[in-house]
Amino acid sequence: MFFSTNEWQHKDTVAIGLFQKSQLSGKAKEMDELLEGRITELLKEGDISSKRNQLSKFFPSPETGIKRIYFVGLGKESDYTFEEAKEVFAHLFKKLHQDKKQAVSVLLDTFIGKDLPAQDAAHALSESCLLATYELQDFKHKTNEPDRFIEFVYATTDHDTAEIQAGLKVGEVYGQSVNSARTLVNMPPNMLTSSDLASYAAELAYKYEFEIEILDKEQMEELGMGGILAVNRGSTEPPKLIVLKYQGKEEWTDVIGLVGKGITYDTGGYSLKPRASMVGMKTDMGGSASVLGAMEIIGELRPEQNVIAVIASTDNMISADAMKPDDVIVSLSGKTIEVLNTDAEGRLVLADGVTYAKQHGASVLVDVATLTGGVIVALGNETTGVMTNNDELYAQFKEASEECGEMIWQLPITEKDKKRVRNSKMADLNNSPGRDGHAIMAGAFIGEFAEDTPWVHLDIAGTATTENSSCFGPTGATGVMVRSLATFVERFEGKK
Ligand code: BES
Ligand code: ZN
Ligand code: ZN
Repeated sequence: MFFSTNEWQHKDTVAIGLFQKSQLSGKAKEMDELLEGRITELLKEGDISSKRNQLSKFFPSPETGIKRIYFVGLGKESDYTFEEAKEVFAHLFKKLHQDKKQAVSVLLDTFIGKDLPAQDAAHALSESCLLATYELQDFKHKTNEPDRFIEFVYATTDHDTAEIQAGLKVGEVYGQSVNSARTLVNMPPNMLTSSDLASYAAELAYKYEFEIEILDKEQMEELGMGGILAVNRGSTEPPKLIVLKYQGKEEWTDVIGLVGKGITYDTGGYSLKPRASMVGMKTDMGGSASVLGAMEIIGELRPEQNVIAVIASTDNMISADAMKPDDVIVSLSGKTIEVLNTDAEGRLVLADGVTYAKQHGASVLVDVATLTGGVIVALGNETTGVMTNNDELYAQFKEASEECGEMIWQLPITEKDKKRVRNSKMADLNNSPGRDGHAIMAGAFIGEFAEDTPWVHLDIAGTATTENSSCFGPTGATGVMVRSLATFVERFEGKK
């Protein structure tokens, strides 16, 4: 897709935003004049609506040179902000996509509001265009004629074009990176193994000049990564610990550690999942996809920050040699873990990932994982569950997530909760203290490995995928937290 600012390059298809109860101004007024007052007339007669997200199409007479105009209602200007603008653009582009339009001139100035500066309007435009037109990459033999997609979007504006171009670029990078994460999560598990995930990360590293390290099974054995190795025992696919480093500061200090759960398939292991809950467990690498999506944004926008991304990847399978309930394992940190449930595998791989990030200089940690069904029971499918050991870091993350319009909600970890994960006859910790509050149990378990390092834990089990298509995309992977993670990194304030 190609976004640019362009003075009336393409008049075939034009898009205009309309605020409720306001006079047409700027480009919209010019257009109204060109159409000899038709817009004013149609608005008055109720043929086109300025109600938020309402779409209307109008076909002007041929002399104007314009074939069709898409009008989209922006609602009241007083409650039109970045979030609403993204939604409005998503509705518009979804429709343009359905109508198979290839190029469109958006009169961007008609989408700028008193609480929405020009640059943010441009960001909203390109981000929403990419999200709304995302299509699942399936493996069907298509017999229909090839799809036509929106290829060219021209933002027509009287504003400073450098500013608009900057906004378009940021939105494009954000939208594109969310879509990359979606594609990874939607991939069938036989086509996205841990090795495939590692190759994907290597491509990113090559493109953006990240330092990359991929630890194989022998290296994990040498280091004593008992968590990820235990989960991998049942598999014929080799595990991978994928490490990307981005250095945006002179010194390797104030390093942000992003740790992702990369279970490419979760059968549950010997604590086998019931057949109905196993379907869909290809998405259990959602956390790692969010981290890789955020790294794509970081690689493109190159903030002055230091980041280490660690992805602990394997599948969770069964064999004669697989980990069993009752096993005791020794994690990379040296802490021992009694395995009570092989389906609580995410926390085992994350334990090693978190320890590895700390050992390589992470001074704050954010882990992301499709970790528990419990978080879905607690918060549903719209809100990501968050736990932390540091309120200040949580506040920074919360701000970033609000800026991106991704809902999060904090769950507490009490001293009694910590006792429950430390309760084991055989080891320092147990990996499954029972169903009560089990999203919190998973968080508390990872907290044992974060120790004193400021840490935020994101449980995206409910939000990584959706069963409802929306203006922002189809059912399936959502790419949740890609934008929040990247924005958090961009705005991060380390030690003052
Ligand atoms: N991958 C699952 C969590 C999950 C559930 C992700 C639903 C996406 C949708 C995780 O590994 C798991 O199986 N968790 C168990 C933990 C339990 C055994 C303590 C769960 O949530 O039931
Ligand atoms: Zn599991
Ligand atoms: Zn899992």
